[in-house]
Amino acid sequence: MDHSKKKAIIIGSSSGIGRALAKKLSAEGYIVGLAGRSLEKLQALQKELPGESLVRQIDVRDTREAIHGLRNMIMALRDLDLMIINAGVLFHNDKLQWNLEEDMIKVNVLGFTAMANVAADYFLQKGSGCIVGISSVAGHRGSGRSPAYNASKAFMFNYLEGLRQKFSNTAIKVVDIRPGFVDTEMVRGRKGLFGIISPERAAEDIYKAVQKGKRIAYVPSWWRAVMWFFRCLPESVLHWGYRRYLAWDKKTSAT
Ligand SMILES: NC(=O)c1ccc[n+]([C@@H]2O[C@H](COP(=O)([O-])OP(=O)(O)OC[C@H]3O[C@@H](n4cnc5c(N)ncnc54)[C@H](OP(=O)(O)O)[C@@H]3O)[C@@H](O)[C@H]2O)c1
Repeated sequence: MDHSKKKAIIIGSSSGIGRALAKKLSAEGYIVGLAGRSLEKLQALQKELPGESLVRQIDVRDTREAIHGLRNMIMALRDLDLMIINAGVLFHNDKLQWNLEEDMIKVNVLGFTAMANVAADYFLQKGSGCIVGISSVAGHRGSGRSPAYNASKAFMFNYLEGLRQKFSNTAIKVVDIRPGFVDTEMVRGRKGLFGIISPERAAEDIYKAVQKGKRIAYVPSWWRAVMWFFRCLPESVLHWGYRRYLAWDKKTSAT
């Protein structure tokens, strides 16, 4: 392994945005640590990367094992410069099934926090580093279709801000990436999406935001204005829009 190169780990790199980010970072000369549940997909991705990489099977729902796995990964890489926490799940949970709510909280909240904790601890010892959390524009408002998902992303906003405050006088950077709609398995087949971008475009934007030292970045950047508007809407208007959307969805599904 060439130890003069920068090193990055992406938690959740087997598909979608994480996969595109792995390709981007590898093309930019990083040695990339690939982590997720699907070993097969990670190994297939590894073969496509132009540079060196390392694969580890990590399921962030088991925080103890995941913490152990990430520490081992950092040791195997012998250093870390950039930690990207991208793993996330979204379920439409119209019946509010507890197992789905629980899974979203386990991955998007507990798993995210556990991975951020290991990275923060390592970067504190090292004196520098960069932690990137892939949250979502969804974190700005509640959602009747997937309450736990939107709430989990709001948790990320707040937690990342807390870390930024904690490290404000240090060389440790903390970046909150808030994508809009990206064409991945997570949203494929959903109706009513707009402004969809490819995972590759998302990866380009995320890389640029990190390079520029942004604290919070919307992907693409025009989502900042859209979400400013959404944040201003009274709850009653949002609820009205939600009911209209459900009615439209039902009607178009029936035809
Ligand atoms: N697509 C969008 O429109 C959109 C918009 C805003 C934000 N985001 C956020 O972007 C991130 C990436 O999503 P995506 O759209 O690229 O979806 P995706 O293709 O479904 O990718 C999700 C990634 O998370 C990993 N993951 C899921 N559960 C995991 C677990 N228990 N342990 C470890 N890794 C796990 C998956 O790997 P394995 O299945 O191999 O574990 C996969 O690599 C998510 O945090 C999502 O919330 C997406």
